[in-house]
Amino acid sequence: MAWTVPADWLDTVLALAQRSQQAVQAALHAVGWLPDVHGQPAWPWAQRLAAEVLAQEPQLARQATALLAYVLGLGVLALLALRWRWARWALAPALLLVATAAPWSALALLQAPAVPTSWHRSPTGFTVQSITQGAHIYQQQCVRCHGANGKGEGPDAARLPMWPPTLNGSLLWKRLEGELFWRVRHGMQGAAGAQTMPAFAHLTDEQIWQVLDYLQAHAAGQLLRDTGAWAQPVRMPQARVHCRNTGATSVRQLQGQRLRVVLGGTATALPPDDPRLVTVWAPALPVTDGGATDIAECTIEEPQALPVLAWVLGQTTDAGQDVPQAVQGAQLLTDRSGWLRARSAPGQGDWSEDDLVCRSSTPSSAAPGPAPAGPTADGLESLIRRMDSEPVRLRRGGYPHG
Ligand code: HEC
Repeated sequence: MAWTVPADWLDTVLALAQRSQQAVQAALHAVGWLPDVHGQPAWPWAQRLAAEVLAQEPQLARQATALLAYVLGLGVLALLALRWRWARWALAPALLLVATAAPWSALALLQAPAVPTSWHRSPTGFTVQSITQGAHIYQQQCVRCHGANGKGEGPDAARLPMWPPTLNGSLLWKRLEGELFWRVRHGMQGAAGAQTMPAFAHLTDEQIWQVLDYLQAHAAGQLLRDTGAWAQPVRMPQARVHCRNTGATSVRQLQGQRLRVVLGGTATALPPDDPRLVTVWAPALPVTDGGATDIAECTIEEPQALPVLAWVLGQTTDAGQDVPQAVQGAQLLTDRSGWLRARSAPGQGDWSEDDLVCRSSTPSSAAPGPAPAGPTADGLESLIRRMDSEPVRLRRGGYPHG
C-alpha cells in the first residue's frame, strides 16, 4: 500500500521550511549582513529549499525530514559536547552515522534556484486599485507578447525566439511571487543564455507588483471559465466600503465574517439581509447620494471593483472593457478568511453546494454536523457548512501563502 503523507503534516513541514529560511534571512539582515533589494531584505544564496518537489513527492518529503532529523540530532549532540565529556566521545561515531546513513542524495533535489527577491512579499494587498493599475500596465507593456487574453499570442509573439507561455493556467501559482517579480523586473534567459523576455527596469517596483496582481486576478478568472473551478484560492480584492451598521471602511475590516458580494444590478434588486452574511454591494456607478449608500449593508465605494470582479470571474478578456451583462446581478460568497468560495449566476434562485467553485483540496475528515431540520435547512445553509468545515489553503511555489 502506498504510504501517503497526510496533508497537514506536509503543510507543517513546508511552513517550517519556509519560516526557517525566512528566519535566517531576517537574522542576517538584522545584524547588517544583508542589503535591501527592491525594498525588502535580499536572499543571499543562489539556492533555496524547493517546496514544489516536497509537495509532489512524498518519498522526498520523508527523506528530507529524515535528513533534517539527522542534522538536528548532530547539532544537539555538538551542543552537549561543549558541556559533557560523554557527548564528546559520541560525536565522532555520530558524525560517521550522519555522513553515511542520512539520505544526502535528497539534497540535490531539495534545491531550487533562488534570486535575491525570492522571499519578497507583494506590498499591494491585492486591492481593486492595484489590480486596475496593473491592467493598464499590462495593456501598455505586456500585451504585445502575452496577448490581451494572456495566452501568449500577442502580435509580437511569433517573432520571439520562444512563444510566451500562457499565463492563464496554474503557472503563476507554481512560482513564489518574489521570483515572478524578479523575472519581470530583470527579464528571463533561455538555456543558452539568450534573452527570452526583456527586463522591465523602467517600471517601478510598485508597478511590477500591480501588474502581477492583475495577472493573478485575470488568470483566476480564466481558470474558472475553462475548468469551472478555482483550483487555487482567490482572495476577495480589498476595497474601500461604506457600511451602514458597523462603520467598517474597508473589505479588510470585514474579515472574520462571511461576505455576499453582489455585482452591479440595481439597489432595488439587492437580496434581503441575512444574519449569516454581510451583504457587500459593488455598484456599477458610484453611489453619490448619501442616503443611497445605506441601502446595502456595505457598499463598495470604488466603481472599479465591478470590472475587477468581472476579471476574477473570467467574464472579460480585455482590460478596460465595459462590464459584461453576464456579471450584472451575479453574487460571490467569501468565507471568514476572505477567500472567494462560491458564485451564483444573475437571477439564480437559492444557493446550493454546487455553487462552491473553490473547494478544499483536502476535504476535512470531520464530517459536517447533521443538517439542521426545519425551514432553515436551505441551500445556503449547507453551502456555508461546507465552506466552514473545509477551509482552503493557498500555496505559491509550493509554500503556504497566507
Ligand atoms: C517581448 C515579448 C514579451 C514582453 C513584452 C513581455 N513578455 Fe513575459 N514572457 C515572454 C516570454 C518569451 C516568456 C517565456 C520566457 C522563458 O520561459 O524563458 C515570458 C514569460 C513571462 C512570465 C512567466 C514567468 C515564469 O516564471 O515562467 C510572466 C509572469 C511574464 N512573462 C510576465 C510579463 C509581464 C508582466 C510583462 C509586462 C510587464 C511581460 N511579461 C512582457 C515574452 C514577453
